[in-house]
Formats: sequence, structure tokens, C-alpha cells
Amino acid sequence: MKFEHKMRGNVSVGVNPIGCKQEVNNQIDFVKEQGAYEGPKKVLIIGASSSYGLATRISLAFGANADTIGVSFEKGPKSEKNLGTAGWYNNIYFKQAAEAEDLIAKNFVQDAFSHETKQDVIKYIKEEFGGKVDLVVYSLASSVRTDPDTGERFNSVIKSIDQTVVGPNVNIQKQEFFEHVLEPATQEEIADTVKVMGGEDWQLWMEALKEAGVLEEDVLTVNYSYLGSDLNRPYYGGGTLGQAKADCEVKADNVNELLTDIGGKATIVVATAVTTKASSVIPFFPVYCMGIYRIMADNGTHETPIMHQDRIYRDMLYGNNAMYDDKGRLRPDSWELDPEVQKEAETLTHTINEDNFTSDKTGYSIFMKEYLNLAGFDVDGYNEAEGEETTLDDLLALEF
Ligand code: NAI
Repeated sequence: MKFEHKMRGNVSVGVNPIGCKQEVNNQIDFVKEQGAYEGPKKVLIIGASSSYGLATRISLAFGANADTIGVSFEKGPKSEKNLGTAGWYNNIYFKQAAEAEDLIAKNFVQDAFSHETKQDVIKYIKEEFGGKVDLVVYSLASSVRTDPDTGERFNSVIKSIDQTVVGPNVNIQKQEFFEHVLEPATQEEIADTVKVMGGEDWQLWMEALKEAGVLEEDVLTVNYSYLGSDLNRPYYGGGTLGQAKADCEVKADNVNELLTDIGGKATIVVATAVTTKASSVIPFFPVYCMGIYRIMADNGTHETPIMHQDRIYRDMLYGNNAMYDDKGRLRPDSWELDPEVQKEAETLTHTINEDNFTSDKTGYSIFMKEYLNLAGFDVDGYNEAEGEETTLDDLLALEF
């Protein structure tokens, strides 16, 4: 088959399944090269099929030998024109690789927000996963959520609050640099974004797991956050997503209380900015990435999701180099927020314009390669012959 990269604005709609397989294998190789580490053994990852969730799963399985359950919402192939989503294939090829090493890798491809999914996962933990988990990772990013009790559907929006923000952005499909005008959110939009991307569902998961008795003593649960800096505060930290992330901190307190009697802990992990399906659609964020990636790549601190997550688990959460702030949040984002790095990125970003944004003066090529890799394109080591030999029937026969 010929796999074509197709886009709608900054959203990839084409996928190369064999490229996704290679990308998963490249990430596995990266983790193996770092060697083994002592970590959790039975892990549930909610939002496991791409970027941060997938990288977490790969690091824990291939670095710490963990059995994993991954929950995600992805689509499988239907026709040659509609091959489904990259996460669908990531799930499958991760599972194949993990099972080849005698690890359990169970995929639930269903709505994490529903009560039913929580009960399905609990049943599986009890009956086929040894009865308990010792780590729960919440790495979900979504634009919609159906309330499991009322059936009401909420949409999240990425907007500023109380101010119109004007700045440079890139339309990846058209390769166009343009001035983006972001209007502030209404009160309803702010509340809805918190409903979708805040911590309510994380807390519901932890309550359901606790009530079912499937949490190990001393269980750890983490939720990925982003704080950013003055450079992106107007549209991120000070915007609707910032409100949702603040809500996760409130919910972390609730979960900590919930877990007290079993010695468990809820931790907010403030992760670094990376190129993902979710982050590429944040207004202005691609240009922020082009600035910060250039500076960090030049000083050797730029990370992809697998590099960042492997460092978080190996060196920080299950290692000796954890760095917490005064609010108890883990801060692997310290490299990105280093004042010198921020200053240089700010200076560089001010020089990026429509004539030079694709040049090597910016981190454009780093961003674009990572962006294409997400959908299985431009992947190092890609086996072109295998791609060409693959048929739709081969893809339809894959089991998740
Ligand atoms: P992503 O879009 O790559 O992955 C989102 C995951 O959620 C996928 O596995 C998807 O299948 C799953 N998902 C979405 N809706 C679902 C549903 N209804 N039911 C089950 N699964 C569902 O997102 P990314 O960027 O890896 O984000 C993960 C977390 O990391 C988010 O909380 C995000 O805010 C946070 N984060 C991201 C940063 C970035 O630069 N991308 C920086 C710091 C934190």
C-alpha cells in the first residue's frame, strides 16, 4: 500500500501503520539502551495510545518489566481511504512487542469517561491481572467528554481568559505562518473545559478503583500537567487549559485524602512541552515549540516524549533525582523553564517570521519531523518494502 500523509489544518488524518510500528520499536530500543530499572509491576495507563501515555507505557514495560493495561479511544481501519488512527496501531504493535517478552499488555479501546469502562477495567484487574495495580497514570487529552451520570456532552476549548491574544501561529497543512487572533472564552466555555480536561474523571477513576479494592498498598497515581512560562501564559497557563490543570491540583488533594488509609499518593507531574496530537492544535504553541526546541536542541536538553517519560520514571519517580516544588508537584519541566533557556527562546521567537520560520535558525525541522512521526511518517529505520507489501486485509486482521 501507499500510505499518504493527509492533514486538516494542524490535525493529521492520514496514517502509516508500518511507520507507527517502527516508531514504537524505536522507542522500545531507546528504553532498552538505557538499561533496566526498578519500578512498578502492574500499571494502568488511561490515555495510553500516543505521545506521553504511550511513552510512559513503553518505559515502564521495557525498562521496569511492568505488565500494563492501556485505555484509549482510537479507530481501526475501515477501507484503504480510511485506515483509522495512529494510536490504534501503536496499541497493537506495543502489545505484540510486550507479549514477545512475556509481559501482559491489555488494551481497552473505549471511552475512559464512562462508568462502564471503569468497571470493565476493574473486572479485568480482578480476574486476569493479578487483582491489584501499583501505579495509575492519567494521560488523557480530549476535546469532548460525556458526563457519565447525566449523559450531557461537554466540549473543551483552547482559549484565553479576559483578553484577546494576538500572535504568530503556523498552519501546518498549508505551511503558512500567520497572525492568530484568539478571542477570550466565555464563562461557560471555561467551565466546560474544566469539565473535560480537569481532574474530575481522574478522581472518578481513583474512587472506583479504590472502592473495588484493586489498588495496591502504597499505590502511586500521576496526572500530567503543563505550567509553561510568561511566553505562553496568555493562552495556556492563564487560559482555559490552565484552569483545567489547576482543577487537577484540587483533585490531586482529594485523591491524596482518598488514598491515605492505604498509604497511596497522587502526584501532579509538570511535564515539558512536546510535539503531540493534542499540543499541535494549541494556538501559537507550534511557534513556541520552534523557538524553545532550537535553543534546547542546541544545548542538548531537547526531549521527545519517550526521552522525557523515561527520565521521569527511571530517574525521578522511581529513582533518586525527583525534584518537587513547594506545592508537591514533580518538576521535570525545569530544563524548559530554565530562565536562560526562556530568555534565549524569547529573543529567538521574536525574530521568527513568514520568511524564515522553516529555516534552521528555528526548531521547525525538529517540530515537523516529530509531528510526522506521530502518524508513522518520516520514521527513522522505516521499512519501505514492508509498507508496500502490506495490504488492507493485513491491517484488518490485526487484533488489539
Ligand atoms: P495525546 O493526544 O497524544 O494522547 C491522548 C490520549 O488520550 C490518547 O491515548 C487518546 O486515545 C486518549 N483519549 C482521548 N479521549 C479518550 C477517551 N474518551 N477515552 C479513552 N481515551 C481517550 O495527548 P498528550 O499530548 O500525550 O497529552 C497527555 C497529557 O499530557 C494531557 O493531560 C496533556 O495536557 C499533558 N501534557 C502534554 C504536554 C504536551 O506538550 N503535549 C505537556 C505537558 C503535559
